[in-house]
Amino acid sequence: MSRPTKPVTASKTTLSSQMMPVDANPMGNVHGGTILKLVDVAAGVTALRHARTVVVTASIDRMDFYHPVYVGNLLNLKASVNYAGTTSMEVGVRIEAEDLKTGRITHTGSSYLTYVAIDENGQPIEIPDVIPETPDENDVGRKENSEEPSVSGSC
Ligand SMILES: CC(C)(COP(=O)(O)OP(=O)(O)OC[C@H]1O[C@@H](n2cnc3c(N)ncnc32)[C@H](O)[C@@H]1OP(=O)(O)O)[C@@H](O)C(=O)NCCC(=O)NCCS
Repeated sequence: MSRPTKPVTASKTTLSSQMMPVDANPMGNVHGGTILKLVDVAAGVTALRHARTVVVTASIDRMDFYHPVYVGNLLNLKASVNYAGTTSMEVGVRIEAEDLKTGRITHTGSSYLTYVAIDENGQPIEIPDVIPETPDENDVGRKENSEEPSVSGSC
């Protein structure tokens, strides 16, 4: 029997959260760890939607902060599956900060994480393959050696 497939759009996730004083240092800059936690949540939901079974974070492959995020900003995290292996998948997250007073949106960071689907015994289990539907989705993937801050549409 051939392996099931799923389009990228079936699991795409956007998570939004307004940044509060508790998330920041005394200058009003949001902590990197706060952002990273939200990245893991958005990417984890995406992986779970793709696999439809329990997933665990195997690695945080890359986390880049291009611009600061400030208290009051709405953080929008856009996550999608870039690549599916047999039991693991890479999820890319594009991080945008929205200034709610002006509407200005800044691409403040990008991250790539790997999740593994597991069964009730904690053993890795097969996941559907992922089908890109747009040229952007065809062209994504880990950019470990890239200094380029713009990440294509699906991430
Ligand atoms: C992730 C985990 C399930 C892998 O188990 P394992 O028995 O070592 O898995 P395997 O060696 O059979 O590899 C399974 C898949 O995971 C991938 N993988 C394993 N470790 C990885 C790592 N550190 N980084 C990226 N991918 C990894 C393998 O490449 C393989 O991918 P594929 O099936 O798509 O080819 C296991 O190490 C684990 O449970 N780790 C703890 C996870 C955790 O607690 N995370 C934090 C909270 S969610």
